[in-house]
Amino acid sequence: MAKVKTKYVCQNCGYETAGYLGKCPECGSWGSFVEEVSGDKTPQSVEILPDNTPPKRLSEIEMDSEIRVSTGISEFDRVLGGGIVQGSLVLIAGDPGIGKSTILLQTSGALCKNGKKVLYISAEESSSQIKLRAERLGVQSDNLYIYPQTNLELIKKHILEMQPDLVIVDSIQAIYTSLIQSSAGSVSQIRECCNELMGVAKTNNISIIVIGHVTKEGNIAGPKVLEHMVDAVIQFEGDKYKTYRILRSIKNRFGNTSEVGIFEMSAKGLTEVINPSELFLKEYNQTQTPGSTIIVTSEGTRPLLVEIQALVGTTPYPAPRRVANGVDLSRVLQILAVLEKRIGLNLSKQDVYVNVIGGIDVSEPAADLGIALAIITCVRDVVFDSHTAIVGEIGLSGEIRAVNHIDKRINEAQKLGFKKIIIPYSNDISDDISGIEVVKVKRIIEAITRAVKG
Ligand SMILES: Nc1ncnc2c1ncn2[C@@H]1O[C@H](COP(=O)(O)OP(=O)(O)OP(=O)(O)O)[C@@H](O)[C@H]1O
Ligand SMILES: [Mg+2]
Ligand SMILES: [Zn+2]
Repeated sequence: MAKVKTKYVCQNCGYETAGYLGKCPECGSWGSFVEEVSGDKTPQSVEILPDNTPPKRLSEIEMDSEIRVSTGISEFDRVLGGGIVQGSLVLIAGDPGIGKSTILLQTSGALCKNGKKVLYISAEESSSQIKLRAERLGVQSDNLYIYPQTNLELIKKHILEMQPDLVIVDSIQAIYTSLIQSSAGSVSQIRECCNELMGVAKTNNISIIVIGHVTKEGNIAGPKVLEHMVDAVIQFEGDKYKTYRILRSIKNRFGNTSEVGIFEMSAKGLTEVINPSELFLKEYNQTQTPGSTIIVTSEGTRPLLVEIQALVGTTPYPAPRRVANGVDLSRVLQILAVLEKRIGLNLSKQDVYVNVIGGIDVSEPAADLGIALAIITCVRDVVFDSHTAIVGEIGLSGEIRAVNHIDKRINEAQKLGFKKIIIPYSNDISDDISGIEVVKVKRIIEAITRAVKG
């Protein structure tokens, strides 16, 4: 009998060793090694491997046109780069309870309505649980098949028999292959299952969407390796306590990353938010308070208007506090340094809080000027004109630097009824912008005088 060999595998990055290690030399995580049985896959000899695609000249390759199938949910299509590419493997990752099963069941429903056949593998929930959710979401179709199963071989068998247009695997951590002995959810299992599914997708031209959970640290649970294997990784995020959700493309072999789709969650499921700026400005106080500004940020290719608030107050502590929510703290610290040095704003005895309303993350530097003006108007206790939007990056010498997608940002502000927009001097704008006054500024000081009321 063959001796059973064991190995230790880092559950975070997949690094393998013969003996247990406390710290992974590859990714640096602690206590991540788990014992797994090795050598349980017998290598195949080259003669019996199918070899129907020998190397070919690039010019000899016939191109199949890339077929994209609309998911029936336009925000989802946008994130995928215009629909799901046939034969691709897509990973949807997100926190527990964020709504992964919900959106994919809705997608299944929408696809089935368009005459597609969908197989939903439910490895975590029973058929009746899925049925219950489908009732709540109003999903019903004879083209939708639910299969509660955790064994990959059985799953494969049914996929091959049924030849559906789309397969959903909920979730990759809950299924296992009998090829290896490690438990479901371990790195080896996830890697192997993903590999097998990839093979099924590519050879049968069936699209597969797999759900993956995210760990507390924000990694897709189990291995990073999963991210490299699949064609696209879509992150599903949002605040569990708020109703909106964001789909964000992190990797996409067939489209633009950094594209986002925005949804609102309700008992009836996720509904697309067609005009997200309105959502984020819903509570914007038209009665105007100091310390609040509207910026036009750009998520992917889509402009978004969001409100930035700042609060500055004398600190009771020896070291003043700097708190940033939704913006990068180091960015705020840099802006504060520029404000102190270049326009003489003394903040050394002041606590500074900066907050992005609506809970979204604004990471791009184009938000700098809006943050700076929110802080300044709060300190000076002056009111910012509520019909003015702001974009601009601040350089270390206090100069305002150009930003990308300026025309889209201006148009979005104009569409939402803003009368004026302050932009960097060096940005060129197209001629057909109308209905909004465009003010170009070179320095922070100039922005203040042009933006503050009166
Ligand atoms: N009756 C309901 N009314 C309103 N919202 C609901 C209702 N039932 C569930 N939800 C919402 O759906 C969310 C759960 O959705 P779903 O099960 O799709 O999440 P998931 O990401 O698949 O979770 P898991 O990680 O457990 O698989 C809940 O957090 C809640 O916001
Ligand atoms: Mg689920
Ligand atoms: Zn590791």
